[in-house]
Amino acid sequence: MASSYAVCRLHMGGRGSLGKCLQRLDTCLHRSIGTNVVAAQADSTRRDDSDEKDGPKSLYVVQAERQEQAERSVLISCPSKTNEKKFLKHLSTHGDIKKHFFYESYGMYAVVEFSSQESVASLLEGATIPIDSHESLVPFKSRLLSLRNLGSVGSSNQQPEQQRNPQTTPPINELIQRLSREESIDHQITHLTESYQLTEENSRLRFLVCSLLKDITAAYFPECTIKPFGSSVNGFGKLGCDLDMFLDLDGISGRNLPKSGLSLEYQMKRANSERAVTQSILSVIGECVDRFGPGCVGVQKILNARCPLVRFAHQPSGFQCDLTANNRVAMKSTELLYLYGELDPRVRCLVFTIRCWARTHGLTSSIPGAWITNFSLTVMVLFFLQRRSPPIIPTLDQLRELAGPADKSMIEGNDCTFVSDFSKIPLHSNTATLEQLLCEFFDFYATFAFSKMSINIRKGKEQNKPEVTPLHIQNPFETSLNVSKNVNSSQLDRFVALCQESSWILQQSENNTPRRHSGGNTPAPWGLVQLLMPLQVAGVKSRKKKRREAASERIKSLLESLKNKNQQ
Ligand code: CTP
Ligand code: MG
Repeated sequence: MASSYAVCRLHMGGRGSLGKCLQRLDTCLHRSIGTNVVAAQADSTRRDDSDEKDGPKSLYVVQAERQEQAERSVLISCPSKTNEKKFLKHLSTHGDIKKHFFYESYGMYAVVEFSSQESVASLLEGATIPIDSHESLVPFKSRLLSLRNLGSVGSSNQQPEQQRNPQTTPPINELIQRLSREESIDHQITHLTESYQLTEENSRLRFLVCSLLKDITAAYFPECTIKPFGSSVNGFGKLGCDLDMFLDLDGISGRNLPKSGLSLEYQMKRANSERAVTQSILSVIGECVDRFGPGCVGVQKILNARCPLVRFAHQPSGFQCDLTANNRVAMKSTELLYLYGELDPRVRCLVFTIRCWARTHGLTSSIPGAWITNFSLTVMVLFFLQRRSPPIIPTLDQLRELAGPADKSMIEGNDCTFVSDFSKIPLHSNTATLEQLLCEFFDFYATFAFSKMSINIRKGKEQNKPEVTPLHIQNPFETSLNVSKNVNSSQLDRFVALCQESSWILQQSENNTPRRHSGGNTPAPWGLVQLLMPLQVAGVKSRKKKRREAASERIKSLLESLKNKNQQ
């Protein structure tokens, strides 16, 4: 029986047209490395996921798998009372559905992954053009569609609600209550990490948005790929974090010259510099995204930045997107952070906790400014873990020494070589608990010699500061750059003061054991929760101040009375 559901392509209203844009998927870059188990010493602390029996997968493998999944997927805006069963039945007429899920973002959406790309092609073939008598449409056909119910499927209201996947973190108050119920600080930290980290579905959605954007860029560069980088893939992403994307044109330039005989080469336009080429590519792509990209709004071309980019909001996913090109070093640092996160589960837990703590106290912000960034905070946590005795993670120089010939990587004169095979990385057996590490982190930075020393994860040791800035964190690959150049001294002072106060809170015995509200059975805030409540930390400041004042008052009166006694 024919279904009365119809899938319409989402079009942008406006003028103009773009030619044939959808291009076939180019083959994904594969590097089958890093799939073995890591050194035995730290096995007890490793993840035990059933799909990770062969050890952690390298970022290349994960990215290739996700990119391929995304190419077989579509994004569909659905009426809120969509009958899931009928919806799936309708779509299945185009082929097997491998996975699907619903989520909310300015309305309800479904991500549907088919088993083959042919099914997607068939679905697009059957989709109709929306009829809009008021506005003209940009006839750009994409994999972002709308579901229309043409009426004869019967009432869908009696259907149970579809399970909608959360795409944001739980509200802080709710999290605080849940954490208060945990029985140890270690459990609180893992609970926080699990609530904040990107879900499988959110990660799929990120790759799908890259893939949809690739359909636009492929109109000019059929062999390009768009890869997510930064916290969307480095393992430290929090639900709701921005989507950093990299337009990879390497597939176009990396061909070998024939050794002899006749050959043809492309005639190409030339520009003064690599940067000028990147700027003009991003300028045109930005224009296309703005004018033709369904769901892409608020497009800004920020071409004069150190790293030129196009910024926009992708409404159907709710992601704030930054598209860059020619940004291979950032891709490498993403791979490095991912590797560190995979080496020991405590790395991610600690990074999530510190990022959340910093955000709660306004040390980080989504607005650019003189604040510490999440990336800087992550590097600070990695450095701290390298400085444990014995170290929990190796230095970047050690990872470089372990690299094989295939790992060699020079990008714009920067040595970005480091081992990618996890099994070659020996780890020390450091059994510190998360609670101990959290407390030590605050102590470490409460007393760090920021005025003289630079944080350097390449050496795993503080180095003399090469320049006069309040905070100096060496960029791991572009070693002449300071990743925290933007941070001013008042922001650094706040960070240090909050480290001191947080360390003090954790050391108070009444704060580090579960508590109940007096006279009731409801759990009272304790442990990590105390650190996530701004008033609590500020309260300590005033309490400490009061105590200091009270103590000085007592000493003063004691001295007075001694003086009086002597005089008598
Ligand atoms: N990056 C860098 N040097 C900087 C800033 C960023 O190399 N000074 C690279 C890092 O690889 C970083 C990525 O660019 O992960 C994206 O930067 P950003 O979005 O600022 O940080 P994220 O790690 O993605 O963290 P967030 O969740 O705050 O977006
Ligand atoms: Mg980011």
